[in-house]
Amino acid sequence: MDLQISGKKAIMAGGSAGMGRATAERLAEAGVELYITARRKERLLKAAEEIAQKYNTSVTPVVADSSTEEGRQALFAACPDPDILSITIKPPPPNGNFLELTPENWRDSIDTALIGPIEIMRRYIPVMKDKGWGRIVNIATFSAKNPMIWRLMSGPARSALVNYTAGVSREVAQYGVNINNILPGMFQTEGASELMEVYAQAFGLQPDPQVVRAHFQEHNKIPAGFIADAADMAPMAALLCSPLSRFIVGQNIVIDGGQHYSLF
Ligand SMILES: NC(=O)c1ccc[n+]([C@@H]2O[C@H](COP(=O)([O-])OP(=O)(O)OC[C@H]3O[C@@H](n4cnc5c(N)ncnc54)[C@H](OP(=O)(O)O)[C@@H]3O)[C@@H](O)[C@H]2O)c1
Repeated sequence: MDLQISGKKAIMAGGSAGMGRATAERLAEAGVELYITARRKERLLKAAEEIAQKYNTSVTPVVADSSTEEGRQALFAACPDPDILSITIKPPPPNGNFLELTPENWRDSIDTALIGPIEIMRRYIPVMKDKGWGRIVNIATFSAKNPMIWRLMSGPARSALVNYTAGVSREVAQYGVNINNILPGMFQTEGASELMEVYAQAFGLQPDPQVVRAHFQEHNKIPAGFIADAADMAPMAALLCSPLSRFIVGQNIVIDGGQHYSLF
């Protein structure tokens, strides 16, 4: 399928690993001029080089932490006028006892998972409006919709993000700017692997990635029967980044192998 985005400028904020990288690859394959960001330089440079070579396209790496004003300014300077913006950002790790969460923990979660994406969108929406076209896709989490007691540092801030985009997307759609969110379930990514020890501790398991994954699979009874790879969500993200999604506005697409029951 031709996504009709060849030659457009696209930012994948959080594009050096996991679902961000998988999305970046689908966009590069479709011929965009790509900008990818991350905090860790070495992995970011490697990803940019690999993607550029694989798809024979321009990929500019920008070391930038989306949760800080300084990081966001670095991104804005590197790419002031994108047509496409996708954002993923990593909130604090799974929490322990909810009674021990402090205002500082909450501020950290909100700075990262809510204010970061909002500030990036706030900068680029007027640019896209002026162009008369734009696409924004937040890669958030299914715990925005399905609360989990151990994901309080991720879910509540993302529920607020989803609320924000529900309102703003309806305002900006008239200018050809569509905003949608993807709410992923369990994915086998670099980020998930980094959290294996925390998960193992939280559930009293051996800190062995295979043991933890088997536990998740059994415990969550994912109807699809497996924990997905990042590549399993990227085609949907790329579609939402394209003109083919012109009638999809303010939606939250859950990609979780059927894990959570919900009619809509
Ligand atoms: N994997 C899952 O099972 C799962 C489930 C539900 C929701 N999610 C959500 O989906 C999103 C992607 O998860 P993932 O598993 O693909 O993560 P991942 O493998 O860790 O990849 C995250 C990417 O974003 C970058 N990044 C993270 N925080 C950033 C920040 N503050 N500023 C700029 N770049 C940042 C990372 O690079 P650096 O670390 O170098 O910055 C990396 O390139 C996250 O929001 C996560 O909460 C994941």
